[in-house]
Amino acid sequence: MNPLKHVAIIMDGNGRWGLKYKNSRNAGHKAGLDTVEMIIKETIKNKIDYLTLFAFSTENWKRPKKEIYYLFNLLENFLINKIEELDRNNIKLKILGSKKFSSKLNELLDYSEKKTSKNSKLQINLALNYGSKLELINAFKKISKSKNKINEKNLQKYLQTKNIPDPDILIRTGNTKRLSNFLLWQLAYTEIFFEKKLWPAFTEKDFKRIIKEYKNTKRNFGKI
Ligand code: FPP
Repeated sequence: MNPLKHVAIIMDGNGRWGLKYKNSRNAGHKAGLDTVEMIIKETIKNKIDYLTLFAFSTENWKRPKKEIYYLFNLLENFLINKIEELDRNNIKLKILGSKKFSSKLNELLDYSEKKTSKNSKLQINLALNYGSKLELINAFKKISKSKNKINEKNLQKYLQTKNIPDPDILIRTGNTKRLSNFLLWQLAYTEIFFEKKLWPAFTEKDFKRIIKEYKNTKRNFGKI
């Protein structure tokens, strides 16, 4: 059976779910947060070390201001209400992407990362204002300024995911089959699961099914 250390998720479909069931895209984001909480619990139960969630891409700034405001407000409240609990549960929070938000949210993110930095049961990487192409460009710039040779091992050191193993599983909900500029380097050998369900409808049972299928998959990494 394959070991499972890292699950990454593109949580797609909040907007469609919200419009379909509550006549509001934002209601979909709120419901999506409940799925996030369920997934955190399941990740701990399954003794997975890393959970990476794509919460906001560099392209998401093109959305209406009202929706962006709602999403960041949701995140602020989540951190205010949950960071102590995450800390008590030995969970570390790390932000991937560049923190270019309101000063209140930037401070809250810094505080949350610092407060949980020594924790070791589960690391949650929250990708916020994250784009993989930009991450790679920045890594190449840094490596070319250094005296290091350009090779895989050295490049990894300049990625934001330095010291984090590559994802074993990527789940994308929402019935869309694309990577949307998420962890393009890190996903080179990841097992990918595209799910029809919208993120707020994604259940514990779906997660368990994916884990079971992954564990029984033959991973070749280029070998036969
Ligand atoms: C994609 O669905 C989802 C997002 C851009 C935001 C994800 C946010 C959450 C799950 C809630 C907040 C999370 C945290 C960690 C506080 P979409 O809006 O693109 O859906 P659509 O494809 O149906 O439009």
